[in-house]
This record gives sequence, structure tokens and C-alpha cells, in this order.
Amino acid sequence: MEIQYLLASIFLVVGILIYSLKSKFEKSRQNQKPQEDKIDLGKKINGQEKLIPISIYFGTQQGTAARFAKQLSEEGKEHGFLTTEVDLNEVEFDKEMKKGEFGIFCMATHGEGDPTDNAKKFISWLQEPQLSLKDFNFTVFGLGNRQYEHYNKIGKLTNNLLEKQNAIRCYKYGEGDANSTLEDDFIDWKKDLWNVLKGLIHPTPQGSTFKLVKSNKEEINFDQTPQGQFDFQTKQFLKAKYCQVVSITQLRQNQQDGSTLQIIFDTGREGIEYKTAMNLGVYPENNDEQILEIANYLGENLNTIYTLEQLEETKKAKMPFPSPLSVKKILKHFLDFNGQLMKNTLTKLAKISSEDEKVRNYLLHLTTEEGKKEFQQMVDEQKTTIFQLIQRNNIKLNLAQFIELCPRISPRLFTIASSNIKSPQQLEIADSLLIDDLSDGTQKIGLCSQYFLNIQQRLLQGESVKVRVDFRESNFKLPDDPNKSIIMIGPGTGIAPFIGFLQEREIFLQNQAQKQNEYILYFGCKHENGDFIYKDQLREFQRRKIIDKFYTAFSRDQEKKIYVQDLLKHNSEELFNLIINDKVVIYICGSTNMGNSVQHLIKEILIKYSNWSEHEAEERIENMQKQKFLIKELW
Ligand SMILES: Cc1cc2nc3c(=O)[nH]c(=O)nc-3n(C[C@H](O)[C@H](O)[C@H](O)COP(=O)(O)OP(=O)(O)OC[C@H]3O[C@@H](n4cnc5c(N)ncnc54)[C@H](O)[C@@H]3O)c2cc1C
Ligand SMILES: Cc1cc2nc3c(=O)[nH]c(=O)nc-3n(C[C@H](O)[C@H](O)[C@H](O)COP(=O)(O)O)c2cc1C
Repeated sequence: MEIQYLLASIFLVVGILIYSLKSKFEKSRQNQKPQEDKIDLGKKINGQEKLIPISIYFGTQQGTAARFAKQLSEEGKEHGFLTTEVDLNEVEFDKEMKKGEFGIFCMATHGEGDPTDNAKKFISWLQEPQLSLKDFNFTVFGLGNRQYEHYNKIGKLTNNLLEKQNAIRCYKYGEGDANSTLEDDFIDWKKDLWNVLKGLIHPTPQGSTFKLVKSNKEEINFDQTPQGQFDFQTKQFLKAKYCQVVSITQLRQNQQDGSTLQIIFDTGREGIEYKTAMNLGVYPENNDEQILEIANYLGENLNTIYTLEQLEETKKAKMPFPSPLSVKKILKHFLDFNGQLMKNTLTKLAKISSEDEKVRNYLLHLTTEEGKKEFQQMVDEQKTTIFQLIQRNNIKLNLAQFIELCPRISPRLFTIASSNIKSPQQLEIADSLLIDDLSDGTQKIGLCSQYFLNIQQRLLQGESVKVRVDFRESNFKLPDDPNKSIIMIGPGTGIAPFIGFLQEREIFLQNQAQKQNEYILYFGCKHENGDFIYKDQLREFQRRKIIDKFYTAFSRDQEKKIYVQDLLKHNSEELFNLIINDKVVIYICGSTNMGNSVQHLIKEILIKYSNWSEHEAEERIENMQKQKFLIKELW
């Protein structure tokens, strides 16, 4: 009994001590006290020598999961945790994911229910039998899109595999839908995260990550691999290469319904190798006028050079860009101030505007349930940007705050529309520009779309222009078996990879007396004489029998709309026979909606001609996908 009283008293004293230390910490943070205090405090609270880090691992293709991880890392620090965001490609899994450690996983799904490129090794490692993940603490948030067949497959898989490997769940699984409510799903999921973790690990105080220091040094050269710990997007940017643009021309017959640019790059000159139908990643730049306007607003001179200095050695803070670097280049290459507003940005901006109560309350209101409609309107109808919001509300902030506020620019992907066998020296893409008409009568042009439009003007003025690019593998590869026919379904810019395929067939047929297979192409657009891109080239392929069957759907050239799906339906018996005899590989490229309805149609055709049940038809399709007889690239 006495021991119990003694223990209770000790707990009470320790509790009071923790409480008083915690409030002292809060005050000390506000007063920006020196950091030695903070580390001592961490040790006392933890009662142990080593601080427990929380790694926020991410699997990302286009940067959203990396952005969520960064957000969690920043929030974690605000709650006093030792958090770091970690690219899954750069982890020694068995060394880092071990007893007593904490891992939060932000996992996007890509391709057709596949892991992102940077998470492939991790997912296959997790499937090894009997890893020693016992007592490794984890939680997972999945990023997916309900428009895809395998919704959040990788988020779910990561969660299940960690569980199966006996890791300990420290917080519930969550997932979000990029088609609608991704950020809200994320906010909802992480609501209790830090409080739950506080029950497991005692936080240790952390400060800000870096500071900007004016410098007299020269700017760094991106191509001379600067050293440092960079965030994911910046690391990707530094690994990419500059490639000369040869020409930018219009691919459509007229621009009544939009614009598609043919962009040709000089790969030969830079010694860059590519493969047919790979994805080209383009790193767009912000335009000079806007950069000047923002620099003026922030009270900065474009030519001022800054060095980034890390504030604390205790954590592996990631730098947002390499330095020394001029204000101009910081704004041009790294900060995305044109993209879709995130609620997280509003919250950060509210903190910056804490002295102006009206503005602060307005920004916070937009993040609440009551402000949801207004916020959605800003995003969907006005496409308001961070900078517009800052300007409209006359928010005063400095460059460092602006850097912390803006996400990094993510690369835009394009399916290569040329064959490396036919033209190893030149690479081509077809870019359908994204231009939205806004409710106030103005237009919002996508970042990369605007970038290429500007380059087109510069080329016309005789300027030589280079673009920073990298390459991603694609599932679009021609079958090894020369007897296999292929069906290519690619309306709009979905035609891109098939231009490369057809160029390769042209070369192949030059050396081949007899054809062993058929190339069947389905293409669709609005008007035969409007947005029929690559029209002459495709008709020429058809005339020379490089394409054996060419089906076209011009949706608005007659009263009743026709799409590629309608043509496929019309040819359903031919399609069924090819599938059932394993004689074909079907490729689908273009919009997600189109891809989904084509796949749905294939299922209906299988049911109709084989008398299979829906389940059997679905199984057959799944097998086709596994064997790479049905391959999709949808966006
Ligand atoms: C694997 C893959 C292959 C692809 N291949 C091709 C291809 O071959 N050809 C091709 O043309 N495209 C292709 N794409 C699509 C291409 O990558 C995008 O069209 C491109 O990223 C658009 O770039 P952007 O910078 O002009 O638009 P962004 O600026 O990225 O805008 C994209 C969308 O976000 C919205 N948005 C932007 N800013 C805001 C804001 N402030 N508020 C609210 N909404 C906003 C816009 O309305 C727009 O619809 C592919 C995509 C993938 C994933
Ligand atoms: C080419 C492509 C394929 C995708 N495939 C899937 C999928 O199979 N299942 C899914 O749930 N989401 C899929 N998505 C949606 C992404 O997971 C979602 O947009 C996510 O937010 C992307 O995160 P990231 O920017 O970190 O890569 C796909 C997106 C693209 C562009």
C-alpha cells in the first residue's frame, strides 16, 4: 500500500514537473530562447539519452505525397517532435525501420495500382518473408483517386504489409481521393495524430529550419551537383538536365477548341538518351513579369544573392533549394505560387497575418466547414493563387516567409511522341494546353502551358532556349512476340506514344518481307478539321499500310456524338476474337474517363461473347493487365 502511495506521489511530482516544463517550453519558444535549453528539456522529459525521431516516409510520383510529408514534418516540429521527411528511395529500410522507431507513411498509388517509382524497392522489400519490424511504430495515409480502378491500392497495401510484418500501429490508417476531397481527407485523418503521438513519445522542442543570409558569393550552377540535403522536388530538379528546344509549332488545324503544341527537343546535342513512349518530365519556370511583381511586393531586388543556412544541427532539415542563389532564380525555378490553393497554406498565411485580426479570421474561416463553399469557389471558379490572396488582403511578408509558404514546382509529365530508333537525336512531345475560362471573364493558363507559350515567343525572336527535363519509365513497350497484334486506343494527346510505335514499325517493315501481325489504331477528337493532331502523318501511315486498320471518331462532326468507345463497340466481335485467342496487346492512352469507359466496354464485350459472369470477365481483364496484354497510361 505504502509503495502504491509512494509511486502515486512520484507520478504526481513528475506530472507537475512535465507540465511546468512544457509551459516553460511554450514560453521559451515564443521568446526564441537559445536551443541548448530545449535539448536538455527533451532529455529530462524523455528520461533517456537519445531523442526519438519520427520519419515521415513518402512514396510520390508528382510531388503531392512529398508535400503532405513536408507538411506533417513542419507540423510535427511545431508540436515539438523531431520529425524529418524521407524519400523512400533513400532509406536503408532494415537499419531505419526498427524497434522503437516511428514511421509515418504518405503513399501515393500510380500507374494501374502500382507503387510510385521511388517506393518500388520499399514495397517489394516489405513483401519479403519475416522482416524484423516487430515494435517498429507506424501509420499510413494513402493518396489515390477514385477514378482509377485500384483506388489507393498502395496505401492499403503498405498498411496491410506493415501489420503483417508485426509492426505496431501507432495511429489509424487514412486515405484520400485526389479526384475530390484529398486535402480535406488528409486534414480529417491527421486531426488527432499529434495528440496520440504525444501519448507515446514526449515531444522535444524544435525551431525553424533555415535562415536566409545575404551573400557576396556567385550563384551556384545547377549542373555542378551542389551538395546538401534537399527536399524531394529540388533533388529531382538538380538531377534533371537542360535540353535545347528545337521548335514549337501548332499541331491543330485551327484553335477553335484549344491548342496542342508540338515541342521538339535536341537530345543529340546534349548526349541524352531516351526510349520510345517513355515519360518526359518537364520542370517549368515562372515567368519574368510575375517574378518581378512578386520581388517588388516582397521588397526584394531580383539580383540579391542569398545563402541558406540551416538553423539546427540536431535534425536533418531539407533545404528548399541550393544556394547561394539570386532572388530571381529562387522565384523562377523553385516556388509554385500559381498552383491550386491548399488549406494548409491558408493556415500558414493566417499565422503570418496574426497582427491583422480581420485578415487572419477571414483566412481561418476559409479552412472551416462554414467557409468550405467560399473556399471551393475560390479554387474551382476563380482559381485564386497564393500571391493573389496575399495581394488582395495586403498581407505583409518577407522572402523567407514566402518560401516557407509556397510548395515547390513539380515536374509536368508528357508521353514521348517519337521513336528513339527513328530519331535518337530529337525527341518530340504533344502538349495540349490547359487554359481555363474564369467566372470574371479572364483566363488561367496552366504553369507549364504558359512556359511553353513563352518559349514559343522567344524562339520566334531567335533566342536559343533550354528546358530542364528528366525521364520516367513507362509500361508502354511493344510486345516481344512479333506475332502479336496491337490495338492502340489514343484519342487527343493520347495518340502520343503510338506515333513512336508507328515510326518503329515503319523501320521494322522496311526489313521484313511479310507482316506477321496487325497494327490497329483508334483515334478520336472533336473535329476532323480542327483538333485532328498528326493528321497527315497518320493518314500517310495508313496509306503505306504501317497502320492496318485506322478507326476515327470525330465527336462533334455530326449530330450524334461518337467516341472511340462507340467504334470499339461496333468492332466488338473482332476485338473479342483477338483477346480470347491471346493474339493482341491493347494499349489505352489519354484521359482517365476515356480509359475507364473503354475498359468497361471490354468487360461488356467479354461477357456478351463468352457468356462469362461479370466476375469472370473482371478476372480475365485483371489477368490481361498482369500479363501486360492490357496496358493503360491515363491522366
Ligand atoms: C503519365 C502522364 C503522361 C502525360 N502525358 C501528356 C501528354 O503527352 N500530353 C499532354 O498534353 N499532357 C500529358 N499529361 C498531362 C500533363 O502533364 C498536364 O497536362 C500538365 O501537367 C498540365 O500542365 P500545366 O502546368 O499547364 O497545368 P497546371 O498549372 O499544372 O494546371 C493543372 C490543372 O490544375 C488546375 N489549377 C492550376 N492552378 C490552379 C489554381 N490556382 N487554382 C485552382 N486550380 C488550378 C488547372 O485548372 C488545371 O486544370 C500527362 C500526365 C501524366 C500523369
Ligand atoms: C498516371 C496516373 C496513374 C494513377 N493511378 C492511380 C491508381 O491506380 N489508383 C489510385 O488510387 N490513384 C491513382 N492515381 C492518382 C494519384 O495517386 C493521386 O493523384 C495522388 O495524389 C498523386 O500523388 P503524387 O503527386 O504524390 O504522386 C494516378 C495518377 C496518375 C497521374
